[in-house]
Amino acid sequence: MAFSKASFSFIVMIVLLSSTTSLAHPGLGWGGKGGPFGGGSSGLFPEFYQYSCPQANDIVMLVLRKAIAKDSRMAASLLRLHFHDCFVQGCDASLLLDDSAKIVSEKNSGPNKNSLRGFEVVDEIKAKLEEACPQTVSCADILALAARGSTVLSGGPNWELPLGRRDSKTASLSGSNNNIPAPNSTIQNLISLFKRQGLNDIDLVALSGGHTIGVARCVTFKQRLYNQNGNNQPDHTIEKNYFLDLKSVCPKSGGDNNISPLDLASPAKFDNTYFKLLLWGKGLLTSDEVLYTGKVGTTIQLVKRYAEDEGLFFEHFAKSMVKMGNISPLTGFNGEVRKNCRLVN
Ligand code: HEM
Repeated sequence: MAFSKASFSFIVMIVLLSSTTSLAHPGLGWGGKGGPFGGGSSGLFPEFYQYSCPQANDIVMLVLRKAIAKDSRMAASLLRLHFHDCFVQGCDASLLLDDSAKIVSEKNSGPNKNSLRGFEVVDEIKAKLEEACPQTVSCADILALAARGSTVLSGGPNWELPLGRRDSKTASLSGSNNNIPAPNSTIQNLISLFKRQGLNDIDLVALSGGHTIGVARCVTFKQRLYNQNGNNQPDHTIEKNYFLDLKSVCPKSGGDNNISPLDLASPAKFDNTYFKLLLWGKGLLTSDEVLYTGKVGTTIQLVKRYAEDEGLFFEHFAKSMVKMGNISPLTGFNGEVRKNCRLVN
């Protein structure tokens, strides 16, 4: 018999050994970029923690459920963290690093300061994951899992999430200031900043649909109410009653931290009303409304289609979230798995 018991055990041993090595140094040894499960070109794949921390997503969801029950806005805040992470050096949790001798934190950039929330929830998830599976689940993957979980718990779509990102040892304050679009962006600004990340017009419109949940501070849309183009005139694309409502929340002077929902109809529900509101001139930020008023045919058509067809929006949002989550991840021996998301090991 050519295939003896001994040689069979030998083969089993080799297979076991090689799979342990692969798990210890993920991304290497699986033969090919997508891993054994066909994860695409990013080097990430959904089953990454299947053996090393099978309960990872359950732990994330447990903490999310509690945090969102206490504060429904937390879902929005966590979704936004993944976006602000991925647009700066890729999805590598650079966003989560605090100031230190070697790190200038992204948390103090224009788009982030006094604005981002949810860091304590990420800390809690990380602490529970460190208890269950020490130094295994990266902070960058926690942000991706929290973004998906927050979407699902708000009533939005679910998707298969490629995993295996590792955490950066650096942050980029200038990257954060330069790559994250401003709320008063023109449609051309938005298109070009998304393009820089490898994201197209569909990704731009679908992902802007993230504004179906959460709120914005007065300072981010005040310009539209009093002086949109430097001529002391409001933005005439705002619907009249909505304009009056917004002025009562956001006076000409002061009140910069007053808040208004990005989707006034259902601020805690992930649905397609955001797009319906854009058709009615009730988008909160300039960057929202220009998707419809910006005279770019593709984005106008997409706003209309998503407003009509929630299923299509959900499908595109899920796809674009995977695409955004695949921006320049660190894999293999690059980066590290932080023990504390705020500090390099
Ligand atoms: C298209 C360009 C975008 C611009 C210009 C933009 C801008 C903003 C601004 C100014 C705020 C309010 C911040 C504050 O008041 O402190 C905000 C909130 C938010 N953004 Fe975006 N954003 C964009 C894209 C995205 C994307 C792609 C996502 C996720 C997929 C997202 C998710 C959110 C969420 C969920 C909130 C609410 C956060 C909360 O309530 O804590 N945004 N965004």
